[in-house]
Amino acid sequence: MLTETHLGVEHLIYPIFLKDGKQIKEEIDSLPGNYRWSVDKLLSELEECLKLGIKTIDIFPAVDEALKDKTASYSYAQDNFYLLAIRTIKERFPELTIMTDVAMDPYSSDGHDGYVENGEIMNDATLPILAKMAVAQAQAGADIIGPSDMMDGRVGVIREALDDAGFINTSIMSYTAKYASAFYGPFRDALNSAPKHGDKKSYQMNPANRREALLEAQLDIEEGADMIMVKPALCYLDVIHELKSTFPIPVTAYNVSGECAMVIAAARNGWLNYDLAVYEMLLSIRRAGADGILTYFAKDFAQFTRK
Ligand code: PBG
Repeated sequence: MLTETHLGVEHLIYPIFLKDGKQIKEEIDSLPGNYRWSVDKLLSELEECLKLGIKTIDIFPAVDEALKDKTASYSYAQDNFYLLAIRTIKERFPELTIMTDVAMDPYSSDGHDGYVENGEIMNDATLPILAKMAVAQAQAGADIIGPSDMMDGRVGVIREALDDAGFINTSIMSYTAKYASAFYGPFRDALNSAPKHGDKKSYQMNPANRREALLEAQLDIEEGADMIMVKPALCYLDVIHELKSTFPIPVTAYNVSGECAMVIAAARNGWLNYDLAVYEMLLSIRRAGADGILTYFAKDFAQFTRK
């Protein structure tokens, strides 16, 4: 009766890494228990996830280095394995909500989320590329488009492109307050997507700033975002709280790879209890105000909370 915050598998979104090929299930060194899957093997894994009550997944592509270029052209190529896999997954599991990622970095020979010219990230030149990518993903069957690139103005451009292509019901979960964080390391290992030069500080947010998150949220909402996200989650619980208190729109949080890797590493050393630590972390993110949480713990959580 007195418990203020509830946490269940229905609040979780499970991020999954996809790789081209067959019969692949490759463990990520810096994120043990998480894998790069080929779509054939992923299907049985997803069946298991659905049985455990996981209703939403977010898929990220690990792209062969040879297919990367300056304009991320593979991201909307007809034969793109990621788009084909989304189609396959959607056909097999229409009840599964599929979120996809919009940003150039998995496909960019520069390893940046935006288009690079003379070492600078070109915000406006990036926008049409992101719009094409988003429409290609919607065509493949994505339900939620997740722009994680942090270019200014991209939510509006993506919304317009989706609407023009007839995808009026495809929603946008905007990475609204995405900080230039040290906690993305294992994710970049998983996709081999670390920047080849420089860092992401010209487009991702300064960890010192909270008020700036309000401005980012206001812009994203005006441009048509359906949900706004804070990322990472744990070092930014105050930002989650602030956005949730200020805006009448769903707020989600991304419990990122580095946050999960810390717990996995400590638990494997016997330094803390994995299940209890995971539960407490996720609960704190919900208590701060997140409606939904993207977390690599989703499947383990679903398993250990099952009656
Ligand atoms: C990049 C992207 C990143 C993550 C999701 N999308 C990394 C980055 O910005 O370099 C990180 C997720 C995680 O660490 O779990 N578009």
